[in-house]
Amino acid sequence: MNKSAIYQLSYGVYVVSTWDNGRATGCTANSAMQITSDPATIAVSINHDNYTNKCIEESGRFAISILGENIDPSVIGTFGFRSGRDCNKFDSVTPAIKGYMPVVADACAYIVCEVIDKLETSTHTVFLGKVLDADVLKDDTPMTYAYYHNVIKGKSPKNAPTYDGE
Ligand SMILES: Cc1cc2nc3c(=O)[nH]c(=O)nc-3n(C[C@H](O)[C@H](O)[C@H](O)COP(=O)(O)O)c2cc1C
Repeated sequence: MNKSAIYQLSYGVYVVSTWDNGRATGCTANSAMQITSDPATIAVSINHDNYTNKCIEESGRFAISILGENIDPSVIGTFGFRSGRDCNKFDSVTPAIKGYMPVVADACAYIVCEVIDKLETSTHTVFLGKVLDADVLKDDTPMTYAYYHNVIKGKSPKNAPTYDGE
């Protein structure tokens, strides 16, 4: 298998957030995609070991904050390299409450979903969400995963579906 072919898939950079018994939490994710437009349905892939997985499972809802190129890179780091088990990520990143869900206030846009189904892989849960609310928050260019790697020089941590041991 030539993995270079798989690397040519395109992604964005998002924060997938939810409630943990009334406390806002979440993680950085590149794996979010629209599945259908009517009814609007979105899928996210979240590692079994991520605290966010358990919280989405329990709350039955998640929100996607679409990060722009002008986002403070520390937002990606806070949500992508720390765990909500050990810290309150929204202490250092300003939240906004949209559609009753916590989102990153400085994001380009948000999408709020109710979990309607899920698929278990050996490492990740694919949560399928029905869109309940969505809106644009600011004028910014949505960040691509390629921009994150090539311009911000960001790394992929172990729990990202695209991690390849590098
Ligand atoms: C750019 C980037 C993309 C990521 N994509 C995903 C992803 O799609 N799915 C996932 O489960 N983890 C992904 N991660 C890893 C999680 O964000 C990371 O494991 C996080 O610390 C989990 O936090 P939690 O334990 O609070 O849920 C990504 C991290 C980064 C930096």
